[in-house]
Amino acid sequence: MSDTSVIYVLNGPNLNLLGAREPEIYGRDTLADIEQRCLTAAGDARIVFRQTNHEGVLVDWIQEAREKAQALIINPAAYGHTSVALHDALKTLTIPVIELHLSNPAAREAFRHHSYVSSAATGVIAGFGAAGYELAVQAALTKVRERA
Ligand code: DQA
Repeated sequence: MSDTSVIYVLNGPNLNLLGAREPEIYGRDTLADIEQRCLTAAGDARIVFRQTNHEGVLVDWIQEAREKAQALIINPAAYGHTSVALHDALKTLTIPVIELHLSNPAAREAFRHHSYVSSAATGVIAGFGAAGYELAVQAALTKVRERA
C-alpha cells in the first residue's frame, strides 16, 4: 500500500551553507544532498523540505505543518538554543515532532546545551551528521504508522 504521509523537514539559520560551513563539524554534504537523502528515505511518503534564516518564517511553517503534515522534522540550528517562539509553535502541534542536529550539541560549547525545542519534541536525533536526516525520516514514518 502506498504511503500518502506528508513530512515537513524544516531547517534553520546558516544551514543553507552546509558543505562549506565548518565541514569538520557539519560534514561535506550540501543541503541539496541532504534533501535527496530524505526523499530516498521517505519512499512513497512526501517530503516538504525547506530552509530559512528567519525565526518568524520557521514559526509560519510550523503553523502550516499543523494543517498539512503528518510529522515534522526540524533542525532549528541556533534558534533551538534561543527561541521560545519556536517552542510555543511546536507545542501547538499534535503530530510527531523530531528535533535534529548534525552535530551533538551536548558535547559542544555550554551555550549549545540547552534546547527550547527538545521539550516540545517527540524525540531528538543528534550527532550522526547528514545520516541523521535519514534516521529522522525513518523515525517519523514509524511514529506516523504507529498512530494510524
Ligand atoms: C546544529 C547545532 C547548533 O548548535 C548550531 O547552532 C547549528 C547547527 C547542528 O545541526 O548540529 O547551526 O543545529
